[in-house]
Amino acid sequence: MDNQSLTIIDNRTDKTYTLPITNGTIRAMDLRQIKTGAEDFGLMTYDPAFMNTASCQSAVTYLDGDRGILRYRGYPIEQLAENCTFLEVAYLLIHGELPTAAELDAWNEEVMRHVLVHENVKKFMDGFHHDAHPMGILMSTVAALSTFYPEAKHFKEPVSRRLQIVRLIGKMPTLASYAFRHRMGMPYVFPEPELGYTKNYMNMLWKRTEPHYAANPVIARALEVLFILHADHEQNCSTNTMRAVGSAMADPYATTAAAIAALSGPLHGGANEEVLRMLDEIGSVDHIPAFIAQVKEGKRKLMGFGHRVYKNYDPRARIIKRTADEVFQVTGRNPKLDIAVELEKIALNDEYFVKRKLYPNVDFYSGIIYQAMGFTPDHFTVLFGIPRTVGWLAQWQELLQDPDQKIARPRQIYIGADKRDFVPMEQRGAQLAHV
Ligand code: CMC
Repeated sequence: MDNQSLTIIDNRTDKTYTLPITNGTIRAMDLRQIKTGAEDFGLMTYDPAFMNTASCQSAVTYLDGDRGILRYRGYPIEQLAENCTFLEVAYLLIHGELPTAAELDAWNEEVMRHVLVHENVKKFMDGFHHDAHPMGILMSTVAALSTFYPEAKHFKEPVSRRLQIVRLIGKMPTLASYAFRHRMGMPYVFPEPELGYTKNYMNMLWKRTEPHYAANPVIARALEVLFILHADHEQNCSTNTMRAVGSAMADPYATTAAAIAALSGPLHGGANEEVLRMLDEIGSVDHIPAFIAQVKEGKRKLMGFGHRVYKNYDPRARIIKRTADEVFQVTGRNPKLDIAVELEKIALNDEYFVKRKLYPNVDFYSGIIYQAMGFTPDHFTVLFGIPRTVGWLAQWQELLQDPDQKIARPRQIYIGADKRDFVPMEQRGAQLAHV
């Protein structure tokens, strides 16, 4: 295609404009020249929820939602889940290339050197109510890390930036396991870096009086695969939050805490917890038709279904379903799987879901596995946040190195009152319409 441009005729003025098209995109700022006169601000686009707006250029993750394709740095997610460890994928996301054996050893060592947290962090944990939601605890303690590392504000300097990145990746499982133990009323377990990323996390979660928690290799590998699948997902809500807050040059702990806040929402990472609650509520396969009827009437949502960009089967859900079978051979079958499988079967054949291209997403089956592994539902989103931290940091790093980026600051279309004069208190009537 030679003529990579768009010609626009402004019918208000009969003027014609030609805008360049690059990577199938026009620059929104090129529209600003389209004006009705010198006083006119210029044309803008209106795009609530960024339905059709690219906010950045990124080389981290490729996603084709219509064809159900997900790749990190060009590598298909299926191949990474099959062949890699989580920290190997973390290296890929942060550095852009897969590590050699020596690079991976050095990276494992570097990350695992940062799994310890300051003893005062435990006091923070202790301050939370016994039934505090672990996502609230994780969000707050990650934010609190910024007070432990004030030098992190020098993150524009590459050596400092790398230190903050490995610190966050290293400390996340420690904070997550402490949030878990706090909930259970159990003492925190000191990290043991030589166990490796996932097994150390499992030890910190489940160790009791034995010297080491004996991690079942199938469960440990399943957790590793789940971490790989959740590590990045291009410009999702929490990553967009990471980039928006990061663009204000907030320090990486405050910025990551903001991303965790976004992830906790039930339409985003919080959906895995909601799926479990929904399956509990449905209770048995016989109750599915009544539940589906409520969904079709718009009274409920089928949690774990639908996605802003996938209009096909989420490739992560396919891998998770397979992983579930392996986990259940060890733990015994979670009876909720029968309800989930039947829900999926009905939904994939029902006109309502077919017409809207609603397929199971990553959250539909993950909670069933997590529950079988011994996690309570309120911990599920934390299990999403640990690996997603890597994706957030890869995207944050990219943002900081991108000369196109500035502080994130969208425009608005003002629809409020026109200028009016102040009304003294005694002359005001009831004006609730404006509240
Ligand atoms: N159950 C029933 N109807 C649905 C669902 C659902 N889960 N998702 C979308 N729809 C309907 C929606 O009501 C709308 O119907 P209509 O055209 O008649 O108004 C249509 O499908 C299009 O939906 P939308 O709300 O415009 O789509 P969106 O891109 O704004 O929302 C979503 C995407 C993920 C927020 C939404 O599908 C949803 O709420 N799903 C349930 C929550 C969930 O599983 N979230 C996890 C997402 S994947 C992992 C992650 O991001 O963390």
